[in-house]
Amino acid sequence: MEAWLHLNTQTEELVGQHCRTEMRVAVIGAGVIGLSSAQCIINRFQPTVKPLTVIVYADTFTPDTTSDGAAGFWQPYVLDEGKPEEVKWNKETFDYLLSYMNSSDANEMGLFLQSGYNIFKEPVPDPSWKDAVLGFRHLTTKELKLFPGFSYGWFNTTLMLEGKSYLPWMMAKLKECGVKFVEKKISSFQELGPFFDVIVNCTGIRAQELQPDPELKSARGQIIKVYAPWMKHFIVSHDLKTGIYSMPYILPGSKLVTMGGIFQLGNWSEENNPIDHNNVWEGGCKLVPSLKNAKIVEDWTGLRPVRNRIRLERQTFKSRPQTFEVIHNYGHGGYGLTIHWGCAMEVSNIVDKIVQERKPSWKIPSRL
Ligand code: FAD
Ligand code: BEZ
Repeated sequence: MEAWLHLNTQTEELVGQHCRTEMRVAVIGAGVIGLSSAQCIINRFQPTVKPLTVIVYADTFTPDTTSDGAAGFWQPYVLDEGKPEEVKWNKETFDYLLSYMNSSDANEMGLFLQSGYNIFKEPVPDPSWKDAVLGFRHLTTKELKLFPGFSYGWFNTTLMLEGKSYLPWMMAKLKECGVKFVEKKISSFQELGPFFDVIVNCTGIRAQELQPDPELKSARGQIIKVYAPWMKHFIVSHDLKTGIYSMPYILPGSKLVTMGGIFQLGNWSEENNPIDHNNVWEGGCKLVPSLKNAKIVEDWTGLRPVRNRIRLERQTFKSRPQTFEVIHNYGHGGYGLTIHWGCAMEVSNIVDKIVQERKPSWKIPSRL
């Protein structure tokens, strides 16, 4: 295990107690949302607001976060209501990732292009993200014959971003920039408040441990990773009568194929369940019978942090002796990897406003 995992240093020693000339930012959470928020703040402010201290606190790091378990498929919900800011953040994330496609970083990031099918039992409106992905089109009659029982569909090329590679890549970059990582469960914002100007709350499904939020719900998912190297396209099936992802999906990754389709709203169990395993397996094999020959490698269960809309907003804590700001960035449901960078940019916009208000003399960089 790396040395940073053992960091038990007290916050006071890391940030110092006396000198308050620098900007201090704490990020709670080391999933895709926390690490990308830290990265965006560093990218935007480190060159010109100095000194800038960023510390990431988390009690779970890669490879054990929800962001590591997710397949890493770039696709917003097909039935999203087209909430304008989320449509924008999704597209910003796609474009940001696409800009890395031809770079030598892509492999280390776990980033690659992936083409495939969304299939339906009835015609549906085109999704809000049809112009974000590459080559979106409707399926031909010949293509639909590949999927008995389905009468409508789309084909497009999108991106895969595998958390188990992307999170270590981001952590390495953050460490190069001097960001510290502290393995610690945070019990309240007040615990960090006196030491930081800004706290970014990226605690995902556990946000309620720090502040009540009746809007945040768990949508439990269970997936099976299989070895099936002949699977080269994604297939996501939908039954609009039964809801989001209650139908099988098959997502080829860099080494293993993810079979899924469980979306249980209100279920907080993180245990693998044999009935769900059978449903995922049977459903996937019905869609692609050759999967019966695949070797099952592992099951994984994770909780999607579902909200009606992502909580991305600023809250000022006017506690004595020091006022501090919390920027909430959680509730990304089943599309955290899909939307993370757009959200991180918005976090950095809010930090910019705070810097301008609190330290007008600091030199503020131009926008990214
Ligand atoms: P997490 O990854 O859960 O990270 C939360 C962090 O906060 C952890 O580091 C944790 O230790 C820390 N933390 C929480 N509370 C505290 C505390 N009090 N003190 C200290 N640390 C704390 N999304 C996609 O875009 N594409 C997909 O293909 C996809 N597939 C999915 C498949 C399944 C089965 C599931 C369950 C989800 C899937 N998702 C997918 C959704 C995606 O996984 C989530 O949206 C995303 O991981 C949320 O990221 P996060 O950083 O908010 O949370
Ligand atoms: C899921 O949450 O299971 C999921 C997310 C994106 C694409 C496919 C599945």
